[in-house]
Amino acid sequence: MPNNNSNLLNQNLDDFDHNHLWHPYASLPPAYPNLVIDKANGVYLYTKSGIKLIDGMSSWWAAIHGYNHPKLNTAISAQLSSMAHVMFGGLTHQPAIDLGQKLLTIVPNGLDAIFYADSGSIAVEVALKMALQYQLAQHNPKRNQIATTRSGYYGDTWHAMSICDPVTGMHSIYGKQLPIQLFVDKPQSGFETPLDDDIKNQLADFFEQNQQNIAAFIIEPVVQGAGGMRIYNPEYIKILSELCHKYDILLIADEIATGFGRTGKMFACEYADISPDIMTVGKALTGGYMTFAATLCQRHVAECIANSEYSALMHGPTFMGNPLACSVALASIELVIEHDYPKRALLIEQQLNQNLQPLKAFDQVADVRILGAIGIIEMIDAVDMPRFQHLLIENKVWIRPFGKLVYIMPPIIMKDKEVFMLCNRLKQVLIDYFKSL
Ligand SMILES: Cc1ncc(COP(=O)(O)O)c(C=O)c1O
Repeated sequence: MPNNNSNLLNQNLDDFDHNHLWHPYASLPPAYPNLVIDKANGVYLYTKSGIKLIDGMSSWWAAIHGYNHPKLNTAISAQLSSMAHVMFGGLTHQPAIDLGQKLLTIVPNGLDAIFYADSGSIAVEVALKMALQYQLAQHNPKRNQIATTRSGYYGDTWHAMSICDPVTGMHSIYGKQLPIQLFVDKPQSGFETPLDDDIKNQLADFFEQNQQNIAAFIIEPVVQGAGGMRIYNPEYIKILSELCHKYDILLIADEIATGFGRTGKMFACEYADISPDIMTVGKALTGGYMTFAATLCQRHVAECIANSEYSALMHGPTFMGNPLACSVALASIELVIEHDYPKRALLIEQQLNQNLQPLKAFDQVADVRILGAIGIIEMIDAVDMPRFQHLLIENKVWIRPFGKLVYIMPPIIMKDKEVFMLCNRLKQVLIDYFKSL
């Protein structure tokens, strides 16, 4: 029976959204209304009510070229006129090949096999499956757990959730149903903070004690994203890589948030000068145009799986290798290379340092952390979101704090004067917010 309730059609946009559409990590109906966006162009979002907001979020790290970019529009339209989609099982196509070739020119050394996935979380699931199949192929069936650090975030699917931070992640809701994984302490905060001997020894002991059960160690290199917005010393990754190597445990680098120039390197692994066995990318892969991601691995991982009893990698989504996504991802990577996004991110870093570091002077601010085009203001107390969001709109800026974390990662194309404006508006929001408390 169709749901022909005329009430549904008569509701205006805001009411329908409020009553029927779930949004990320929100209740239905939501605690406070969602803004209706009519148009997005360059580094600005335009609300239905006529407000022009400067975008400090890149739609959760993805829209690195801003919105409505002519080159990306052309790439996707051109592909649309020849083939929107075709299954990837038994078939292949030029956009998938062209993208693969380009991707392999920029990723860390040795990564040369690619699995196209639908989203970041799925790319992580695929990475975990790869690791488990690799260990099975090596006749190590007991190596079936995943190790990681606390404070991580790897997505919302089942196994991805199991490796998110057990306290700030969703373990408390789904607890016993989630696979049990192995956690070490989070790395110390600070890009330049020398690593404690304690942390190094803990890591070494952890590997020594658990090596027989670990298939892979997964980590967000240098920047932990949604699990706490923390930046740590790349030496940690170097040590991790050595330990993984020593015990033949695979190292998975999740570059879904950090990839494509955001941190000031093409991939954050470059800060540690290491190549992971497996790497995931997503978010900015298509410049925010389409949901798409990829899991890459070293030849030895692919070969080992191929030569095993099962031989096939057991994953195959319907929309794998979607041609529209591949073509827009190729155009996106070309822009990243042509305009040297890592270098651009470092210029943004200088501005963030100048404009955001002084915010430490506020009593309510606990810490300010910056790397590349990422600026994080950690507050002493959790932000009151309805109040904060109201002030953001009033000051014409779009960001999305969570808990104590107010953070920006603007589109990499953002011009100097716009970065300055974004920081100034954010500062004003904070001043207004502190006054209102
Ligand atoms: C490091 C990392 N891995 C995985 C994911 C999950 O990606 P998606 O939301 O596309 O599933 C995210 C998303 O925020 C992320 O930051």
